[in-house]
Amino acid sequence: MRIGIGADHGGFILKKPVIEAIEEMNLEYKDYGTYSEESCDYPDIALKVTSALKDKEIDKAVLLCGTGIGICIAANKVKGIRCAHVTDAFSAQMSAEHNDANIISMGGRITSPEDAKEIVKAYLSAQFAGGRHQRRVDKIKQIENNN
Ligand code: RB5
Repeated sequence: MRIGIGADHGGFILKKPVIEAIEEMNLEYKDYGTYSEESCDYPDIALKVTSALKDKEIDKAVLLCGTGIGICIAANKVKGIRCAHVTDAFSAQMSAEHNDANIISMGGRITSPEDAKEIVKAYLSAQFAGGRHQRRVDKIKQIENNN
């Protein structure tokens, strides 16, 4: 499994712990920036990472901004993206198991590096449960297709 990582300047601080978590799980990652704390616009990063996901360069992704909110909103504008904004490991696990989230987002000004590692591991260890959850995800897709 190949994991994309994207951050704006507000999420930059979490890039290192997120990469560590991915490496500790023996998974591959691809880094879509940003590469410093210099100010940049989170929608640009969201677009880069969601395009890579749609092109199957990566299988899942972690997006980071100051709160994790803006980059999540931007990512969810792209068809087929289910980005979950998470601040705890249980929600991260549920976002994979119940919502088939293909991206999680976190905030560098909200979540500690230690918690970010735990959250990433919980998300990447979990599998979509299917069944009744598939029906609900299909309904999300219907909303997307009709609006
Ligand atoms: C940038 O200052 C900040 O607005 C951004 O990182 C993010 O928190 C937006 O939701």
